[in-house]
Amino acid sequence: MRNKRILLGISGGIAAYKVAFLIRLFKKAGAEVKCIMTPASSDFISPLVVSTLSENPVAIEFWNKSTGEWTNHVDLALWADVFVLAPATANTISKMAQGQCDNLLLATFLSLKTQSIIAPAMDLDMYAHSTTKRNLEQLKADGVSIIPAEEGPLASGLIGTGRMAEPEIIFDFTMSFFESKEPKVLQGKRVLITAGPTYESIDPVRFIGNHSSGKMGYEIAENVLRKGAEVVLISGPTKLHLSHPNLKLISVFSAEEMLQSVQEEWNAAHIGIFAAAVADYRPMEKVDQKIKKSDDALTLQLVKNPDILHWAGTQKEKHQTLIGFALETNDAMAHAAQKLQKKNLDFIVVNTLEDEGAGFSTDTNKITLLDRNNKTQVFELKTKREVANDIIEYLITFIEQKS
Ligand code: CTP
Repeated sequence: MRNKRILLGISGGIAAYKVAFLIRLFKKAGAEVKCIMTPASSDFISPLVVSTLSENPVAIEFWNKSTGEWTNHVDLALWADVFVLAPATANTISKMAQGQCDNLLLATFLSLKTQSIIAPAMDLDMYAHSTTKRNLEQLKADGVSIIPAEEGPLASGLIGTGRMAEPEIIFDFTMSFFESKEPKVLQGKRVLITAGPTYESIDPVRFIGNHSSGKMGYEIAENVLRKGAEVVLISGPTKLHLSHPNLKLISVFSAEEMLQSVQEEWNAAHIGIFAAAVADYRPMEKVDQKIKKSDDALTLQLVKNPDILHWAGTQKEKHQTLIGFALETNDAMAHAAQKLQKKNLDFIVVNTLEDEGAGFSTDTNKITLLDRNNKTQVFELKTKREVANDIIEYLITFIEQKS
């Protein structure tokens, strides 16, 4: 959302207080926010709060009575990359559906050239009323996106559907709007991604595993899907879900299963991104019965697992690009450089547990990219979603330069 211009409309309902949190989310994501309020909404949230959080003056009236200055609603409308109205009251929805413009917010809505997203909020009977439904249908037909109201306790004391969607939901919805406009630069590319941990069975109820959440690999998958790629995601056990028409999700348990799927899929892929935290060793014996406790100590003999990424590197064709990950605790760049050579990679994503917030089970990561010419690019600590984007933008430039 960096540098995106969000025009945030606020109409007069109790849910207006939640807009403070929404502005914070937009600002934190790097967006520019300008707010436009209906006169009634200032009874529910102070314009001072709104202007302080958005770091911009708030527009309420057509003209400022003390300075005599006119607020140019056309300029405001043209400035916006998206218009978000939260909360959208029954009254404002009705006026929008009919094209009325008796306040600045409505006049601005009529001047917009971009997408509008509205988050209705009202009492349950108002939300269920046939006229509100009709007005919402009209707005939908006019191209306005509607974030449905949620069910829960309402200001009237009643319980039902009418609560404004939570700020996080409105934020995600707005984010999806921007993402849907991303150019499909990876259209025609097939990307194989490994993600998550592998579990190595000890007996039918126990396994050796690790703390990998799978988040990094799934974020990469989402990112390349948005950019138009076809994705084969070979995932060890995780709690994550992803579905998309261009996604083939293959769920595996062990390193050997992951290797088998990679061997079936790698040949048809243009790009391989190996983010899985594969267990290096597995128990030598596969025991069919649960191991009963007996002696004070139990010795498990482990054998080395196949190196899946190394296998892909040996099979790599000229048109294919291969990316690995290295999680290190010391001498990160030296170890990563060795892996890059040994596994025949085009570049490697290095993260070190020496950096706070980097690694396995966190929501953030701090990476350095290292290529075959020993060139490095260092990135700040970011969310895994942002890190995924950095890796893929680097990859796109890499492929452009290669061809
Ligand atoms: N990898 C793999 N199969 C394995 C081990 C690792 O595909 N059996 C991949 C990982 O997905 C990652 C990269 O290889 O992209 C680096 O893995 P890592 O475990 O850090 O390196 P190793 O080569 O196993 O070396 P070490 O564990 O000794 O650091």
